[in-house]
Amino acid sequence: MARVLALTLNGRRRTDAVPDNLLLLDYLREVAGLTGTKTGCDGGECGACTILVDDEPRLSCLTLATTVDGQCVDTVEALGTDGRLSAVQRGFHEKLGSQCGYCTPGFIMASAGLLRRNPRPTEDDIRAALGSNICRCTGYVKIIEAVQYAADLHARGAPP
Ligand code: FES
Ligand code: FES
Repeated sequence: MARVLALTLNGRRRTDAVPDNLLLLDYLREVAGLTGTKTGCDGGECGACTILVDDEPRLSCLTLATTVDGQCVDTVEALGTDGRLSAVQRGFHEKLGSQCGYCTPGFIMASAGLLRRNPRPTEDDIRAALGSNICRCTGYVKIIEAVQYAADLHARGAPP
């Protein structure tokens, strides 16, 4: 059965008819055409599919699209303004927090969510916020440094 899904996606209102059983991950990639959100394990274990729902990180592979009706959903495509990278994007880029990059959109969204809720996170806060995201390449040290750098940029006025 199809339902009407009305949400604010990356700052824009949109309405779609979607099947009851459509995953939010598939809605974002296949209906909305936002392929920045990645499919990794497809089972809630890797964090590659992390997006924000009302600023809270959510695994889109475990979320039915219809459950975000009326809410604000942000994907990695929402970040950056007028061609300028956001603080978290700059952090991952400038501090080499990304190698193959497959996990990066999920890490970036979990980090952006953290800075929206807690602009001055400790290292423990960062580790806790990224605890559901897996990276096979970086060894995590560069990722932590990237988020610390992003928090400094954010403190100086850059959007997360
Ligand atoms: S694809 Fe969603 S947690 Fe791995
Ligand atoms: S940069 Fe390759 S999996 Fe994280």
